[in-house]
Amino acid sequence: MEEKKIMLSGIKPSGDLTLGSYLGPLRHWPKMIEEYDCYYFMADLHAITVRQDPAALRRRTLEQLAQYIACGLDPEKCTLFIQSHVHQHAELGWVLNCYAMFGELSRMTQFKDKSAKNADNINGGLFTYPSLMAADILLYQPDFVPVGEDQKQHVELARNIVQRFNGVYGDVFKVPEPYIPKVGARIMSLTNPAAKMSKSENGDTGRVTLMDDPNVIMKQFKRAVTDSDTEKCVRYDPENKPGVANLMTIYATVTGRSFAEIEREFDGQGYGRFKPAVGEAVVELLRPIQEETRRILADKAYLEGVYRAGAEKASYVAERTLRKVYKKIGFIAR
Ligand code: TRP
Repeated sequence: MEEKKIMLSGIKPSGDLTLGSYLGPLRHWPKMIEEYDCYYFMADLHAITVRQDPAALRRRTLEQLAQYIACGLDPEKCTLFIQSHVHQHAELGWVLNCYAMFGELSRMTQFKDKSAKNADNINGGLFTYPSLMAADILLYQPDFVPVGEDQKQHVELARNIVQRFNGVYGDVFKVPEPYIPKVGARIMSLTNPAAKMSKSENGDTGRVTLMDDPNVIMKQFKRAVTDSDTEKCVRYDPENKPGVANLMTIYATVTGRSFAEIEREFDGQGYGRFKPAVGEAVVELLRPIQEETRRILADKAYLEGVYRAGAEKASYVAERTLRKVYKKIGFIAR
């Protein structure tokens, strides 16, 4: 039997997962566990580059794990773990810091954006974040790393680190490929269709989280910005009607209908019926996920069992890579 290719990805528990997280990456992950040997983790070490309230971080980390499972990531078929439970991440992160250059870290657009947004807390972790992310990836020798466009630059940096490291010590790490799903919908804020729907709380009033109450979801869709053109019809034109295009993308992704079908469905009706229809479709999409998440969260023993087993599996693989790295570098084995 041919060995399955390895895939790995993480999401920071720094904000509640949104409809955008689901319709973009998360929705595709359950299919991938059939085809690949998958590792998915809650990147809590990454979350603290920005100040987190400890209770909120704890809640989100567990909720995110429960949501992954509720969305179809069967823990029997893939490895789900919490990053800080696998100490090898922090250790390899330090090593790779010594192989990542100040200049290349300085060029990361996410660092520049985040420093601008957190001017009072431009800490070292924010700067060296990509070395830790490289460690997350390289510990598992994955073939593919599913990420959004915004993370592609970090995967590129990980590739550069691999080339630099392997150049000195031989073939230690596999060169990872970013994997950007062709069909992944990019969902924008409902109040500002020029910006991605964000999982952090600061300021995005146009987001819908996976756990939002149906009433809240309906309200968010009813007040979603449409476009100020005079035509007031449901037509897919992302250039001139970005608000409507975003709602259509959501509706199309949730219902599986094409843009042409949606245009026909709402022909001659304006936005008054369209916006609540999108809201209702989203409420129905999220209902079973919410129920399942609550059920899993209530079962503490089960959840604990999942993350313990996940950490054990992940550590075993991670330790093999870390040992090899330490040996190559010249550290004395204990
Ligand atoms: N940096 C990613 C983000 O902000 C999260 C992440 C951390 C990640 N480590 C990773 C993604 C490793 C893929 C692989 O979304």
